Amino acid sequence: MIGVAPSLLSADFGCLRSQALLLEPLVVSFHVDVMDGHFVPNLTMGPPVVNRFREGVSKPLDIHLMIDHPRVYGPQFRVQEGDSITFHVESADPIADTIDAVRQTGAKVGLSLRPGTQLGRIERWLDRIDLAVVMSVEPGFGGQAFLHESLERIRMLRRKAGERLEIHVDGGIQKGNIREVAEAGANVAVAGSAIYGSADPEAAVRALIARGSVEQAG
Ligand code: DX5
Ligand code: ZN
Repeated sequence: MIGVAPSLLSADFGCLRSQALLLEPLVVSFHVDVMDGHFVPNLTMGPPVVNRFREGVSKPLDIHLMIDHPRVYGPQFRVQEGDSITFHVESADPIADTIDAVRQTGAKVGLSLRPGTQLGRIERWLDRIDLAVVMSVEPGFGGQAFLHESLERIRMLRRKAGERLEIHVDGGIQKGNIREVAEAGANVAVAGSAIYGSADPEAAVRALIARGSVEQAG
């Protein structure tokens, strides 16, 4: 059974907390995209906004850092138990130091990689992280089409990592492909436009959960 994590990138930034609370009973966590205008060609929000948003939200936050310097900014997020901070293997900071810096915040540690980055770049870190975010679109924007080759990357990562690693898939998730990503071995499907682009976000989450409810491949 795959969990759904709404990506707030597609929510109304003028009322982020109420957009989250509307869906809180249904979802496993909330996915928060932090972009710096360098690592990706888009700017979103940073620690001051995320830390204020966090107050009053009970479900975990999955903070996805698409920034050049996660070692510098990662520790500025005030996390609660169960929250995770994910950064990219392609970012400019040394990976080992950044893992340590994120670990010290008390957050679960995640690594992500762009669709074109070799999976081998993440493998040597698997025993030091809690989750991996497999990007199924080029990071930077919501509403892009799912890259089909991501399914094989999820399968390969699941084989390499075993059951301990939490695998999230991020980008282009819809009713029509959530079953495939669940079968490939992902635990959490991140969805932005499929939820907040819908006239009825709650019904959209229910539909994703229903379509994703399958036994995962071993
Ligand atoms: C893209 C972000 C995603 C994005 C997904 O860089 O990391 O989390 O919000 O949006 P959809 O679900 O619309 O592809
Ligand atoms: Zn994301």
